[in-house]
Amino acid sequence: MALTVLYAGSEAERDDWRSALAQGADARGMELTLVFDPETVAAETVDVLLFAPDGPVPDLRRFPRLAAIQSLWAGVETIVTRPDLPPGVPIARMVDPGMTEAMVEYVLGAVMRVHLGHDRLLDQRRDRVWRPIAPPLARDRTVGVMGLGVLGAACAQALARLGFDVAGWSRRPRILDGVESHAGIAALPGFLARSEILVILTPLTEQTRGLMDAEMLAKLPAGAHVINVARGPILDDAALLDALARPDGLGGATLDVFDVEPLPDDHRFWDEPRIMITPHIASVSRPETAAPVVLDQLDRLQRGEPLRHLVDPDSGY
Ligand SMILES: NC(=O)c1ccc[n+]([C@@H]2O[C@H](COP(=O)([O-])OP(=O)(O)OC[C@H]3O[C@@H](n4cnc5c(N)ncnc54)[C@H](OP(=O)(O)O)[C@@H]3O)[C@@H](O)[C@H]2O)c1
Repeated sequence: MALTVLYAGSEAERDDWRSALAQGADARGMELTLVFDPETVAAETVDVLLFAPDGPVPDLRRFPRLAAIQSLWAGVETIVTRPDLPPGVPIARMVDPGMTEAMVEYVLGAVMRVHLGHDRLLDQRRDRVWRPIAPPLARDRTVGVMGLGVLGAACAQALARLGFDVAGWSRRPRILDGVESHAGIAALPGFLARSEILVILTPLTEQTRGLMDAEMLAKLPAGAHVINVARGPILDDAALLDALARPDGLGGATLDVFDVEPLPDDHRFWDEPRIMITPHIASVSRPETAAPVVLDQLDRLQRGEPLRHLVDPDSGY
């Protein structure tokens, strides 16, 4: 079955996606009509929408034949909450090996920076201070990973392989080598209490929005560091700043995601030197590694097989 596939991702990445998808489809001998302009496409011909939140956001009701939506991002909160979402159309998340590798690299880098005290060493270097304080071994450092899905599990296991004392938290118990499993909301306070470094990697859903509020941040050990690579609204901005200001509160934060992106010029985070800010670059979809994933999914559709990595509309991820 020939499929018409409409790319509704970012304009900046459109050419890279165009060549990666076209070359991949040719190499596989797939019958696809790839369309890159949502304004001019004959809407009644579209079978599959490739969606990204930074794309042109076409009105989803325009596509009467839509058989599936493939998200180009791992996070699907912007698509699952859309009022124009046609009922019953399956949505697949992006699970891209390149994205997983990048997230592991970002999280390992951030955890190592905190673990080895690099920020303090940079301050000392600036002030010409020679103060030799050896960092603890990884085995004596507790790290908690909130969310043990594709990305969280890969990060937790990579941290465990480096020797960190790692625990993970998820909705359902997960068995992962070297990772202590905590599951469900009742287990969250205990999990936080043993996390000197916390990595947030849960999706943004009704359950996780605002989850890391003042009460939950207060469960972390004094001096803990929070790394948020999931979504900004999971972590309460004001509560984070308050926790950083308290003597027994947090030691620092590394934030890649924010309520509003780009982070506004006048946001208080810019004035807090203990917050490392990165502009949502922890892990992006790379056409060279993600296009084969999209083509695999289209191939499944053509063979009448269900898509992989389907979003559960009830849980929202
Ligand atoms: N900063 C970036 O550049 C970037 C890049 C990619 C992704 N992300 C973010 O990372 C998120 C995670 O991606 P992923 O691919 O790892 O997602 P995933 O495979 O769907 O995994 C989600 C994990 O979160 C857990 N979870 C969800 N709701 C929960 C709740 N209410 N309580 C406890 N645990 C809960 C799930 O528990 P179960 O295992 O029990 O289902 C699962 O372990 C994405 O949603 C996206 O927002 C950010």
